[in-house]
Amino acid sequence: MLFTALTLAPVFGAPMGAAYQEGIINNGQAVEFARVIPSEQLRSGFTFISDDLRSLQSNDDLNPAFLWVIQGETLWKRALSKDNPSCENCHGESNKSMRGVSTKYPQIDPKSGDLINLEARINLCRARYQHTSALNLESDEMLGITAYVASASRGLPMNVRIDAQNREHFLKGRSLYYTRMGQINLACTHCHEENWSGKLQGETISQGHINDYPVYRLEWQKLGSLHRRIRACLSGVRAYMFPLGSKELLDLELFLGWRSSDSKIVVESPGVRR
Ligand code: HEC
Ligand code: HEC
Repeated sequence: MLFTALTLAPVFGAPMGAAYQEGIINNGQAVEFARVIPSEQLRSGFTFISDDLRSLQSNDDLNPAFLWVIQGETLWKRALSKDNPSCENCHGESNKSMRGVSTKYPQIDPKSGDLINLEARINLCRARYQHTSALNLESDEMLGITAYVASASRGLPMNVRIDAQNREHFLKGRSLYYTRMGQINLACTHCHEENWSGKLQGETISQGHINDYPVYRLEWQKLGSLHRRIRACLSGVRAYMFPLGSKELLDLELFLGWRSSDSKIVVESPGVRR
């Protein structure tokens, strides 16, 4: 049984009113929404994992995700030809040029008006500036270069803001987050906001933040994306698994990014999970 270890009582009685409070537009720009988990209680997923996993994640020499990061670094430096410069040819040293970048994703690409995450941004550069094919979203290359770019922001707080441009996406993502799904008929909020620190199948339920992604997961025996993790949650409640890179997962990612954007939640990519 999926729910043997989970206390459901507070879930169904809990008022979710706060989550639905309408946003206030400040200075005609930033939109503020109420948090369900009070700011002072926000905690990175890292604080919920076992001591063993924490020591793996904390040491770059032991963290298995670094096998992919090293691959990402190679890709960053590799020029395909004279007309197809390397990432480094344009952006220079990633530790400088990419510092802070992953804290702001997903965001709206000004050229297309689309909501894009870091993976999609990297594929845009491949298409626009390297004149080469998109990387498959769950490929080792894509995961490696995403982790390499994200790791340049380690220690910086997540910084996804909601404004007039991304507001519609945010509202859709938020609405999905509070919608009951699947045969088990639970919403994301029931586990990650109403039952965090509870146990589920031997795992401690975290607040579902995104600051450690991509992560090396022991169950996968490899690095995996945030979208893959969310699909695992959808599968857990026997719900339709939105495809990797789909509009729904991007909208959810924006909502999750906003939820993680608080001074205490800093980028720690790449993480390690069970
Ligand atoms: C039945 C409970 C349950 C539901 C419902 C659920 N999750 Fe999860 N989720 C988990 C568990 C268990 C984990 C693994 C432990 C952890 O990190 O929280 C997890 C992990 C995550 C993580 C990774 C956190 C980290 O630090 O590695 C994210 C992000 C996440 N879930 C998002 C979602 C979203 C979005 C939804 C709704 C579409 C959702 N979850 C629905 C149980 C659930
Ligand atoms: C020919 C130059 C060029 C190459 C090659 C290139 N980029 Fe870019 N990149 C840009 C420009 C210019 C931008 C600013 C956005 C735009 O105009 O599309 C950008 C933006 C970005 C951003 C977003 C930065 C931000 O602040 O939001 C990331 C991440 C990125 N590039 C990663 C990469 C990666 C990874 C590669 C290699 C796979 C790469 N780029 C290759 C020129 C390049």
